[in-house]
Amino acid sequence: MVEVEGLQDVVAADSSICFIDGARGILSYRGIDIHELAEKSSFEEVCFLLWEGRLPRRDELARLRRDIGRERTVPAETLDLLRRWGGRATAMDALRSAVSALSAADPDARSMEPEANRRKAVRLTGQLATIVAAYHRLREGREPVPPDPGRGHAEDFLRMLNGETAGAASVRALDVALVLHADHELNASTFAARVTAATLSDMHSAITSAIGTLKGPLHGGANEAVLKMLREIGSLDRVDDDIRARLARKEKIMGFGHRVYTTEDPRATHLRAMSEEVARSAGDTSLYDMSRRVEQLIRNEKRLNANVDFYSASVYAMLGIPADLFTPIFAVSRISGWTAHVLEQYAHNRLIRPRAEYTGPAYPQPYVPLDAR
Ligand code: COA
Repeated sequence: MVEVEGLQDVVAADSSICFIDGARGILSYRGIDIHELAEKSSFEEVCFLLWEGRLPRRDELARLRRDIGRERTVPAETLDLLRRWGGRATAMDALRSAVSALSAADPDARSMEPEANRRKAVRLTGQLATIVAAYHRLREGREPVPPDPGRGHAEDFLRMLNGETAGAASVRALDVALVLHADHELNASTFAARVTAATLSDMHSAITSAIGTLKGPLHGGANEAVLKMLREIGSLDRVDDDIRARLARKEKIMGFGHRVYTTEDPRATHLRAMSEEVARSAGDTSLYDMSRRVEQLIRNEKRLNANVDFYSASVYAMLGIPADLFTPIFAVSRISGWTAHVLEQYAHNRLIRPRAEYTGPAYPQPYVPLDAR
């Protein structure tokens, strides 16, 4: 059944990028199952797949890895802006505003040629990672760590964030998380990007719209809210009372429920396993154990499944990433899907302009002069 509120189940575009079967818990990029991509692929390979519609050959993958690596360099004026915001802006606000400002320094900013837009997709993918890492360091009074184009995206992001090379297990965990978050059909932020692109506005504007949309707690902001909730609960023995009290207050439990999946979100399957693995290798399973208990309760009491945001929260926390960077890291991955959709929109564009069901006063109403009101 089609619900007008929230455009539930409304098909709003043709797209060959992402296939979801919400009833069977299937997610695929260009027809390739997400489970296979999570196990065998890398973020850069997924970028190629999303942008080009096929898996890269070895030389193509090496080239894209190098190109994204080179594009991780951000202009000095962007770093100046981040420095000036000095922690007053939230990390997500800083990312949104920095991406908007990046267009001023982008050599392709004024071109809508397909090749220029393709270059902007690669460039923005590189730059987002650097902006998130640099802003975090600057707000802590530390200097940004310049990118190293020779490293993979996940590895270099962790290095730029922490100032030291991360272990292989952490790099792989983040790389898989980036693969899992890369695209998700017409989710709210991608739809926002496509609406902006469909006016033939530029890619920086479309991505700025997307980041603003991702920020909300009903979308990408949920992962940060999950960790806040787990920290408020504090320990495994307090989970049952706390969650029941939240449900009694009719609070939404962040990280649960989904507009499209009626069964388990396949991304949650991987993130749950990753959360357990990272916890066991760190020798501290407290966040994972609490998450499992929350999940059981919400399944029993509300018949709701965990979504992508629930276990990504504990994974990122255990990787030592600050909670307010969880949603910006979602953007560091989703930029690949956003830009793929913007490129697809430009290639077959028509203005997106729906109608509203009018529910206001019946037409015609009299215009009452100011003195007579
Ligand atoms: N916790 C508790 N109850 C929830 C819930 C949650 N996380 N998600 C949905 N519900 C309940 C709603 O209260 C509603 O109950 P009601 O019919 O008794 O009022 C019912 O399930 C339908 O929810 P609704 O918000 O209308 O569904 P939606 O399709 O509009 O929303 C989400 C989908 C994802 C926005 C919603 O599930 C949600 O807010 N989840 C928490 C935020 C989150 O994790 N977002 C990330 C999504 S990947």
